[in-house]
Amino acid sequence: MILCIADLLSPEALAEIRRALDAAAYVDGRETAGWHARLVKRNRQMDARMSAVLQSPVLDALRRNEVFRAAVLPRRFRPVLFSRYETGMAYGAHVDDAVMGGDDPVRSDVSFTLFLCPPESYAGGELVIETTAGEQAFKLDAGAAVVYPSTTLHRVDPVRSGVREAAVGWAQSLVRNAEQRELLFELDTTRRALFRQQGKTAEFDRLAKVYANLLRMWAEP
Ligand code: NI
Repeated sequence: MILCIADLLSPEALAEIRRALDAAAYVDGRETAGWHARLVKRNRQMDARMSAVLQSPVLDALRRNEVFRAAVLPRRFRPVLFSRYETGMAYGAHVDDAVMGGDDPVRSDVSFTLFLCPPESYAGGELVIETTAGEQAFKLDAGAAVVYPSTTLHRVDPVRSGVREAAVGWAQSLVRNAEQRELLFELDTTRRALFRQQGKTAEFDRLAKVYANLLRMWAEP
């Protein structure tokens, strides 16, 4: 399941991050890629000191977002990376490392890209994800995010003009399996809609019980 979340960042949080982007120092993006992804990664990344400051506005926004929480069931996050693609830069097809962080490993179940620039300010730079139905390309508004399974091959197409800035990150989910996560998300969405329409009926209770017990069966806290 691939999910787009509009307005993940508040205008204030987006403005704060964009101010920091202007002042930040950048390093070669290859420093944080796995050995084969490194061969196709051509971008820059904000240096560790500044990007540490910007972790919380992004991670707090994700943790607060009801759709993200329901779809991802996040258990832990890797530190967010802030990437910058100048004209001519790209990130060729790759799969994200399955386990990240040497001393404190996190399994990447879900990847996300949070767009930080208005789409009209650069040409190219689409995030392209391979799915069984073909390729899907994403270029969202500043402050919007695309959330997708880390199991996919994906790439960032070359930026033909302008600069593309984005925050990228990974979550380990309570539920490792993407199909199980999707079933839980559908069930959760339905049970909430039923509650909004009819309140806490016997049918809602039954559905809430099925949701809770499937989550109990599948979760790895
Ligand atoms: Ni990637």
